[in-house]
Amino acid sequence: MDIKTKRLILRDVKKEDTADFVLAGNSREINYFVWYIPYPLTMQKAKKMIKRMGEQAKSRRRRHYELAITLKKEERVIGMINLYDMDYKGRKCKIGYWISEAQRRKGYAEEACRAIIDFAFKKLKMHKISGKTLMDNQASNKLLKKLGFKKIAISREDQFIDNKFMDCYLWERIG
Ligand SMILES: CC(C)(COP(=O)(O)OP(=O)(O)OC[C@H]1O[C@@H](n2cnc3c(N)ncnc32)[C@H](O)[C@@H]1OP(=O)(O)O)[C@@H](O)C(=O)NCCC(=O)NCCS
Repeated sequence: MDIKTKRLILRDVKKEDTADFVLAGNSREINYFVWYIPYPLTMQKAKKMIKRMGEQAKSRRRRHYELAITLKKEERVIGMINLYDMDYKGRKCKIGYWISEAQRRKGYAEEACRAIIDFAFKKLKMHKISGKTLMDNQASNKLLKKLGFKKIAISREDQFIDNKFMDCYLWERIG
């Protein structure tokens, strides 16, 4: 599937993306803030992840939408955007995202988020989207606020990172 925005195409990841995926995602910072991306992100690990994402993409009612954020003009992966924990009956899901360090502060995350939020509310008929951030994730906290999410709670010691339980903010946007 493809979602097109002014500068981006959000689409399923392909085997051919592996090297770009590693180049974009092999970052200790991404690993710290986005818990499903390992560090170091090796070609071998990336291949396995992309294979799993490919399997997931085949199902009719997807439990995850793990889409590559690609630049229209270069056709290159610069990050990922995810809808996950899809609850079609309860009409709610969660959002996650990351952008390569080299491509930050250009409005790409905001552009990708706006498009996938629109897709979730209009096409998938979701009613609510939730997000979770580490309290010290300034970029993501500001982004979610800008996107109209409301900070609804602090979830205490909700994420185990570097041998420490970290507090998180919980965010929600109703469609
Ligand atoms: C969070 C992240 C995806 C933002 O990506 P980005 O493409 O740089 O964000 P954008 O350029 O679209 O910025 C949109 C808004 O987000 C906020 N923002 C982004 N980066 C910020 C930063 N470093 N500090 C403060 N606010 C920031 C701003 O409100 C910004 O709007 P503005 O530029 O008009 O002020 C990126 O920093 C990232 O990948 N971080 C590591 C992974 C991560 O934390 N993922 C989220 C896990 S919850």
